[in-house]
Amino acid sequence: MTAVNPKARRAGAAVSGLDVAKIRQDFPILGQTVHGKPLVYLDNAATSQKPQAVIDTLVRYYTTENANIHRGVHALSQMATEEYEGVRTKVRQLLNAAEDREIIFVRGTTEAINLVAQAYGRQNIGPEDEIVISAMEHHSNIVPWQMLCQERGARLRVAPCNDAGELLLDDYQRLLGPRTKLVSMVHVSNALGTINPAKQIVELAHRWGAPVLLDGAQAAPHMSIDVQALGCDFYAFSGHKLYGPTGIGILYGRAALLEAMPPYQGGGDMIRSVTYEKTLYNTLPYKFEAGTPHIAGVIGLGAAIDYVNAIGLDRIAAYEEELRQYGTKCLSTISGLRLVGTAKEKAGILSFVMEQAHPHDIGTILDAEGIAIRTGHHCAQPLMERLGVAATARASLSFYNTREEIDALVKGIDRVIEVFS
Ligand code: ALA
Repeated sequence: MTAVNPKARRAGAAVSGLDVAKIRQDFPILGQTVHGKPLVYLDNAATSQKPQAVIDTLVRYYTTENANIHRGVHALSQMATEEYEGVRTKVRQLLNAAEDREIIFVRGTTEAINLVAQAYGRQNIGPEDEIVISAMEHHSNIVPWQMLCQERGARLRVAPCNDAGELLLDDYQRLLGPRTKLVSMVHVSNALGTINPAKQIVELAHRWGAPVLLDGAQAAPHMSIDVQALGCDFYAFSGHKLYGPTGIGILYGRAALLEAMPPYQGGGDMIRSVTYEKTLYNTLPYKFEAGTPHIAGVIGLGAAIDYVNAIGLDRIAAYEEELRQYGTKCLSTISGLRLVGTAKEKAGILSFVMEQAHPHDIGTILDAEGIAIRTGHHCAQPLMERLGVAATARASLSFYNTREEIDALVKGIDRVIEVFS
């Protein structure tokens, strides 16, 4: 096994000022054993675990407050409405958006992107127009645009990346032009961890008047986001990767763009008045929130935002970066293992392949050791093809992970080597 400084192995060693041992006590699931081994949860890019505060908030909401929102004069409905709308303000502050009405509650990043593709795209993108994405997109930032292009006769252009998984900015710039009607790019790659130069991506697209959507699913849980400083027009992320419940996500959109867009879905709450002849739509943000939303999910997300804010996203980013560097160092010493995704700017994702074993076998052996990682193409098949791998094994980090867990991963990989030698 790779030699590691024993002092650095102490559980909950306060790195970057974070008391990780204390933080871990807030996450009941982390105390579990799996297959008789202590759980080492390194699949945070797929979904994060939930602190007790989020679980308690969901129980409290359903136990004492459950009611539909925007619809009742009764006390419970008013309480639920106030709390739901209060979370909109929290999200606005989290993203430093200018106005609450720029925050739309959706099911997740996927729905946010589909909303923009359908509502903005169908109205503004036509034959011969171009949509630019990057070579490291998740399927959810490819397929909605492909569907739109097929429908509208538009063209999907792909900005390439190098072998390290870094966006080639010059090539991206060359793709932009008068036909570019939208740029939609991942902020942090889910498969590689690359942190894209989002501000530059936006500035270059804006020179051609093209709005930019940033897929922030893997960014928002790991760093401070300022949509005004980034200058982006849309920003999407999922609650469940930010320690909140599944089924709730956020679309931020500039008010002027959202105002001009038609609704995405029709139904209750998104209307001002309805007759058989004509429907008048509601104002922002309600125009985009048809039907009873995931009220508990929103309120749970509010508790998750409070939780990460109490720690501080800058401290979280600093801690996760130290952990990533430690993990990179440890994995780099393992013979036969190759890291996939070696960008200079990276978040806490360690994707790798091994000469000795297929990623699926790596995942299965690690699982037997209580270690949870993701294996496969990570919903990024074109990226895998570009990098010449069918699949990778991926360990993805959170602020509740420790160096000891990285050591356990290394030990698990030793076991893989043992089994396949
Ligand atoms: N997009 C999630 C992942 O990367 C599910 O695992």
